[in-house]
Amino acid sequence: MKKPNYISPGDFSTTFFDGVLRSKEFDDIYFSPINGEEESNYVFLEGNNLKERLLINNNFTIGELGFGTGLNFLLTWKLFNDLKLNDSYLDYISIEGYPLPINQINKIHERHPKLIKLWIELKKEMPPLWSGTHRIILNKGRVRLTLIYSDALEALKLSNFTVNAWFLDGFNPNKNKDIWSMDVMWEVYRLTKPSGTFATFSSAGFVRKNLEKAGFNVKKIKGFNFKKEMSIGKKKGKIQQNKIFSKYVIVGGGIAGASIAQALRQRGQSPLVIEKNVKLAQGASGNIAAVQYPRLATVNTPAGRLSLSCYRFSRNLAKKLGVAINDKSIIFSTPEREAIKHNKLLSQGWPKDLMRKISKEDKLAIANFDFNLNGIVHDYGGTIEPVKFVNNLMPDDIEIIFGKEIYSFTQSTEGWTITLSDKTKIKTEVLILTCSDGLKKIKQTSVFNLQYTQGQVTHLDKNKFKNIPSTNFSFSGYLTPPINGIVTVGATFEKNSNERSYISEEASNININNIPNEIFRNIFPRNVNLNKLDGRVSMRVSTFDRMPMMGQIDDNLFILSALGARGMIMAPLLGQELSSIILGLPIALDDEILKKCDPIRVERSFLG
Ligand SMILES: Cc1cc2nc3c(=O)[nH]c(=O)nc-3n(C[C@H](O)[C@H](O)[C@H](O)COP(=O)(O)OP(=O)(O)OC[C@H]3O[C@@H](n4cnc5c(N)ncnc54)[C@H](O)[C@@H]3O)c2cc1C
Ligand SMILES: C[S@@+](CC[C@H](N)C(=O)[O-])C[C@H]1O[C@@H](n2cnc3c(N)ncnc32)[C@H](O)[C@@H]1O
Repeated sequence: MKKPNYISPGDFSTTFFDGVLRSKEFDDIYFSPINGEEESNYVFLEGNNLKERLLINNNFTIGELGFGTGLNFLLTWKLFNDLKLNDSYLDYISIEGYPLPINQINKIHERHPKLIKLWIELKKEMPPLWSGTHRIILNKGRVRLTLIYSDALEALKLSNFTVNAWFLDGFNPNKNKDIWSMDVMWEVYRLTKPSGTFATFSSAGFVRKNLEKAGFNVKKIKGFNFKKEMSIGKKKGKIQQNKIFSKYVIVGGGIAGASIAQALRQRGQSPLVIEKNVKLAQGASGNIAAVQYPRLATVNTPAGRLSLSCYRFSRNLAKKLGVAINDKSIIFSTPEREAIKHNKLLSQGWPKDLMRKISKEDKLAIANFDFNLNGIVHDYGGTIEPVKFVNNLMPDDIEIIFGKEIYSFTQSTEGWTITLSDKTKIKTEVLILTCSDGLKKIKQTSVFNLQYTQGQVTHLDKNKFKNIPSTNFSFSGYLTPPINGIVTVGATFEKNSNERSYISEEASNININNIPNEIFRNIFPRNVNLNKLDGRVSMRVSTFDRMPMMGQIDDNLFILSALGARGMIMAPLLGQELSSIILGLPIALDDEILKKCDPIRVERSFLG
């Protein structure tokens, strides 16, 4: 048996015989094959009085220990759908240390005719078996499943979501004491909303004692079928209502603005977007191509975990929205410090579908030649079309004011008053800043301690190539396959340089010369004239610690910005998280990550 850690989830051997899935190490079955559905319904859904509570609570959150085959989730999702509740939303957060391969789960649900339709839908969205937090959007956002592939205690300690009901479904307590320990129960209690409940099949004395000691009012009730007893319980307190605001304004129509707009729309809100240009994605999000791959860390850091969660989410989204051009991101081990990092990563045992060593076939896909360069490959990665990404993400049924710039905003008792470039004023209860380098022109945010780094990408005509790479690859820059006949080579990092809109020959030179020689001579266009090269210039915004700004900066004032050189990976999941912060919904990412993204670290004086 392999325990879960930040590099890969845990693993144990299972047997599957006559419809029964059994863990050898925990010496227990996942659920009874004869009446598993009925048992789960009875123990977890009825044990938490779910049907009645869903009818009166339109933002319901369930936490689960042990996702297993997802049977409990599928039953809950089915119940939610069957109730046909308009304007209701379900969050389901499940912690699983030893996720099962999809084909294994498939064999189980093939036997559940009532659930098969939902399983087929869920199967398409199931994340690869990578550690960490994976957000899945179902029912167009009305149902959100968050799978946390981690040891239960580790995950709970770092969490700060709260739930209305718990499904405590670890294996038999006598075979798996860890998941029923006092430490776990303290955390379960901490993460329960006032008046929240739990249900479990277990009636073991030490489980009940731990739950009682943690603070729950615990009851023994009749167990399912021939089982004598099971346990349910409740936390004291009054149900709290979720926050809803009368109006939301988002400043900026780039990937950050579109991500938060979509997340709010999925939760029934209708934000107003204000964009100074006449179209969306005209700032840093406006390049012809962008590459997507994660920044894995050789030690367990919030930055590494954030990158991985965002990568899975954004990549999956880009594929679904039809804006992904090719699969696979190749990263060459150059310069030398990258080579050291890559060798370390390759020795650490990350899942192969997340990261592997470059092969001869990968090199042939780039240059039709087996050149002498090492590197790593992210098979899930690839190239996207950013402008389409932003446009497809932005909800088409919200109002967008184009061609007006926000100059300033002031606080009043009702919220915020924004002044636009044509002197018109707009009032809003909630204001969300996603205007990236526009922050430096707004009085209040111009004081933020941010770095503005100009970048130029170079455009090359694909017809001039000797070999056209069919996959993107990165060195100190990157090169993408052609989109509409244009190969993108990126990008310069021009710190402290004067802002410009023209294409500089010097910058094109830097981009072209960065391409490793081994590849250069096999793919590079003939007759290239550097001073005739086209390209695009825009501005990256980053913080001193390279983590984004995501969260609250004042009363009902929020920000999603400083996405640096990784916005096409980071923004979509961070948009989801910011919407949860604004609406008081459960947060998927762990607490250490949230603290690292807290905008207050960048500018404390703002609050004062
Ligand atoms: C050259 C270059 C190459 C890059 N390559 C990649 C890559 O390959 N992969 C990747 O993941 N990331 C890449 N990035 C980073 C990524 O593009 C950015 O992180 C991302 O686009 C930032 O998105 P944003 O929405 O925060 O900002 P923007 O896209 O700049 O959007 C901000 C919007 O706000 C609007 N605005 C500004 N001020 C105001 C105002 N006062 N009122 C109203 N509207 C306003 C702007 O017009 C703009 O539309 C690259 C960046 C650059 C510069
Ligand atoms: C009985 S099964 C859950 C059945 C599941 N609810 C279903 O619907 O199929 C118990 C689950 O708990 C998981 N588990 C056991 N110990 C764990 C731990 N310490 N941390 C996280 N998950 C654990 C197992 O991998 C297994 O999937």
